[in-house]
Amino acid sequence: MPEQVPLDFLGDLRRTHSCGQLRATDIGQRVILMGWVHRRRDLGGVIFIHLRDRDGVSQLVFHEDEKFAASHEKAELLRSEYVIAVEGQVKGRTPETINPNIPTGEVEVVVEKIWILNESRTPPFPMEDNVDVNEDARLKYRYVDLRRPRMQRNIKLRAKMSLAVREVLDGLGFLEIETPFLTKSTPEGARDFLVPSRMYPGEFYALPQSPQIFKQLLMVSGFDKYFQIVRCFRDEDLRADRQYEFTQIDLEMSFPQQETIVQTIEPLLEKVCEVAGFKVTAPFPRMTYAQAMRSYGIDKPDIRIPPFYCVEDLFPEDPNFATPGLPLVAIVIPNTGAPSRKERDDLKAFGQERGLRVFDDAKRLERDAPEPMAKVRERTGAGENDLLFLCGWLGEPKGHRPEETVLQAAGQLRLFAAQKFNDRHKLLDPTDFRFCWVLDFPMFEWNDEDERWVAAHHPFTSVHDEDIDKLTADPARCRAKSYDIVLNGTELGSGSIRIHRRDIQSQVFSALGLSPEEAQTKFGFLLEALEYGAPPHGGIALGLDRLVMILAGEKSLRDVIPFPKTAKGTDLMCEAPSEVPDKNLRELNIQVRAKRT
Ligand code: AMO
Repeated sequence: MPEQVPLDFLGDLRRTHSCGQLRATDIGQRVILMGWVHRRRDLGGVIFIHLRDRDGVSQLVFHEDEKFAASHEKAELLRSEYVIAVEGQVKGRTPETINPNIPTGEVEVVVEKIWILNESRTPPFPMEDNVDVNEDARLKYRYVDLRRPRMQRNIKLRAKMSLAVREVLDGLGFLEIETPFLTKSTPEGARDFLVPSRMYPGEFYALPQSPQIFKQLLMVSGFDKYFQIVRCFRDEDLRADRQYEFTQIDLEMSFPQQETIVQTIEPLLEKVCEVAGFKVTAPFPRMTYAQAMRSYGIDKPDIRIPPFYCVEDLFPEDPNFATPGLPLVAIVIPNTGAPSRKERDDLKAFGQERGLRVFDDAKRLERDAPEPMAKVRERTGAGENDLLFLCGWLGEPKGHRPEETVLQAAGQLRLFAAQKFNDRHKLLDPTDFRFCWVLDFPMFEWNDEDERWVAAHHPFTSVHDEDIDKLTADPARCRAKSYDIVLNGTELGSGSIRIHRRDIQSQVFSALGLSPEEAQTKFGFLLEALEYGAPPHGGIALGLDRLVMILAGEKSLRDVIPFPKTAKGTDLMCEAPSEVPDKNLRELNIQVRAKRT
């Protein structure tokens, strides 16, 4: 850092314009701009500075001539990221110096006076987007990273999208209502973050995994049409699309049909995409969970890639070919041309690792079983230039829904193949936004670890009217009134029609293996509330971070959250989590048994 840069006070100086605002129509005006030194070019007699703020960049010119000598001299002291204010006159640039790449490129400000408001250490990395910067450095100096154009764009987009959500929902008569952060555990399937109570030793609040129970209580209170853009907290393993803290667009309505929720969310998503600069058109395709599994082998299908087809009915049952009674799947990836030996081997290996037997050689199958294969081509529409291969299960059926085990493995193979050949078919275009609804999820999932059925969505979800009698008799086949909205293979949001009757809620708790006492301890207040005139209700929550991530073309939530945690769950900037002084622990009656090593 150069020594003794004379710093000036802001005094009562006020900006007349932002750095991105000046145009040819401003030529001749006297202006005051403030911002950061983005770039500096010193040509001796004249110094050019690009001055940057949130709004854009303006070119400043400092001339050495007598009139402006003092300012020119000060400009010599400027370095990257110094904070300055300047006063001067807007001049038109000569045609050959016009910069068509920036909105202010037709003009420059000839500086008469400069105030250096603050200096800056040399930034830890360049401000330009096209420089690859180590993510740890970006997160440690996040306040600098956030100045970079990509992050400025993403965070601004996020703000615009949140505003659009508020406008649309307000227009539809929704009320934004806050719910507590210091609360009791909400069962969304992850671990809770706990907050010790100072007043009540040994007792803890839980940070909400979602406002689920509170929004249901708001329906009981008569606040039909609630929404909230709300922070949720889940202590689960982090991934590119998962953070400990994330934001939901959470809503709930009284007396809705599933259709009412769909009709609310579709225009909301159309609008949010529009503010992000993309057009999507509702209605979005819908499929049941069962259809999603039979066509994509996953409950969050990426419908940019064509579905697969179950073709076991076309082949004679043969245990050497595939396990009878289980699906045989034909996967088609369009426009790949003939795959190489190595590519076929990779597909095979990927499938085998997941328990599949992969028939990667369509030509050979066509020789061995011409008739069934002709029907496979007919069913799938696979052409000569498309990759076509079959996969089935060889061995014992696995899991409580064995058909799903096979379909899921085939679904993973379909995605693997689609990604592998993307440079040829280019289907996975990140600006091609394909929403779809997946409806009628199963009510329960088998949890191998605990060896019991757990709620597939959450335990407040209604069971299908026709499946109520299966609650305890046949949980595997019980369908829920739940729905997901999916975007390009990512689960964007989930919701359901809720249980509004105490008797049914108690039955579902018992189907989940919760004793009446446990149900009372955990959710007694909800059960009681259901006895005070709870209306039929339902809702949904969308992951705002995921939506921004996809619309911003990013691959990680960390690039759309201003201050995210690292993949290891730490905050490198403020160094959280951190130890706390013994005094605080004593106040909380907490004794630490082990420390980070
Ligand atoms: P669910 O648990 O499916 O439903 O969450 C809804 C949406 O929130 C987003 N999401 C996350 N985003 C980032 N990081 C995470 N760790 C994370 N976890 C979830 C996803 C997901 O689709 N209360 C119910 C909703 C309801 O029934 O109304 C709920 O929270 O985009």
